[in-house]
Amino acid sequence: MAEEKMEVMLTAKQIEGRIKELAEEISEDYRGRKILVIGVLKGAVIFLSDLVRHLTIPVEIDFIAVSSYGADTNSSGVVRILKDLEQSITDKDVLIVEDIIDTGLTLTYLYENLLRRGPKSLKVVTLLDKPDRRQVSFNPDYCGFKIPDRFVIGYGLDFDEDYRHLADLRVLEP
Ligand code: IMP
Repeated sequence: MAEEKMEVMLTAKQIEGRIKELAEEISEDYRGRKILVIGVLKGAVIFLSDLVRHLTIPVEIDFIAVSSYGADTNSSGVVRILKDLEQSITDKDVLIVEDIIDTGLTLTYLYENLLRRGPKSLKVVTLLDKPDRRQVSFNPDYCGFKIPDRFVIGYGLDFDEDYRHLADLRVLEP
């Protein structure tokens, strides 16, 4: 379907406004400290790049890639690290940046994996949360928007690697 015909769930403007608020809250909470921001590839890339530019504290950036669903819109529940971090996170204040929490399986795995590496603190910010689809309980420290159970694309989120570049968040009908 042509992208302009897909329903817009959140406009680029709405997303931008909320990210500024999140960045203010995060900067306040970590005042006087430096954080290591870990982006979960590839969906969180656009969110991360907008978020860090509004932070007013010192920031380091790294990325991790975990297996995704491929062309399937349902989570398999199996998570693997495809690309690991380039640095140690031991004794660092770490903030995981995720695009969306759906079943909660990816972040539960990632959170426990990173916790075992001994960070000073470990928190999670997600742009989107679909609480209706949770299979394991996971509550992010910061959340941009709670959204209904619909498959969304744009602003970094893909379906089979398409649509990540769209500025608005749109609904992909089955
Ligand atoms: P979870 O493990 O089910 O919480 O899935 C998290 C991952 O699934 C996200 O990082 C996305 O890559 C993908 N995902 C979940 N819901 C959507 C969606 O509505 N659109 C695009 N990707 C999604």
